[in-house]
Amino acid sequence: KMRKKIVAGNWKMNMNLQDGVALAKEINEALVADKPNCGVVICTPFIHLASVAQVLDQNVVGLGAEDCADKEKGAFTGEVSAEMVKSTGAQYVILGHSERRQYYGETAEILKDKVQLALKNGLKVIFCCGETLEEREGNKQNEVVKAELADSVFNLSAEEWKNIILAYEPIWAIGTGKTATSDQAEEMLAYIRSTVAEKYGKEAAEDTTILYGGSCKASNAPELFSKPNIDGGLIGGASLKAADFKGIIDAW
Ligand code: G3H
Repeated sequence: KMRKKIVAGNWKMNMNLQDGVALAKEINEALVADKPNCGVVICTPFIHLASVAQVLDQNVVGLGAEDCADKEKGAFTGEVSAEMVKSTGAQYVILGHSERRQYYGETAEILKDKVQLALKNGLKVIFCCGETLEEREGNKQNEVVKAELADSVFNLSAEEWKNIILAYEPIWAIGTGKTATSDQAEEMLAYIRSTVAEKYGKEAAEDTTILYGGSCKASNAPELFSKPNIDGGLIGGASLKAADFKGIIDAW
């Protein structure tokens, strides 16, 4: 695989500031000492970003946020803009995570605006998609995922597309300990790549990094990463301990 491989951690709402900075330091030290064979990114809560940026060698470990606002600036109490994220030293942002869609009512339309603002402010976007258990049981996973992409990111120009990383996360596999089988993940990622090819052409599709997420850990990462279309992982639970996270990175 020529395209960029990435292992990205998503800390979600875990780690206070002190513990988060300590974890980032530990990950950074481990990876500076033993250079990874893939890109590594850690995505942290907003309040950690500026402090974590100071302890990371971003040539080795990139930094990202877990979300950003759908508005540029102004009277939106509690929100954090893409420009603010960028100003901390972060280079990435996760958008469209199923937890944001489910618990915070993020619609395709809102996500479209967030993606535009993130790209406009020079962030790379890790855009998530994935179906529920009910949708999979109804064999609707392909149409659901295709619609999520079509409605929020397929409006982008070919140039903008270069800053998009996709992450397929079947909702039934997130935090449940129930990983998609490597064949299920491969099948969906191949399908996603084919829809990207329809929209942006075969070459752009071949260059697009597509991650799998959902109960990925050191024990199942080698099998997942051996599949031709799986370019890495978006890791929740197993990104919260340096040794667990490094174990997944070492699968490349
Ligand atoms: O963004 C990460 C995913 O939601 C996966 O979470 O590894 O805890 O299942 P998990």
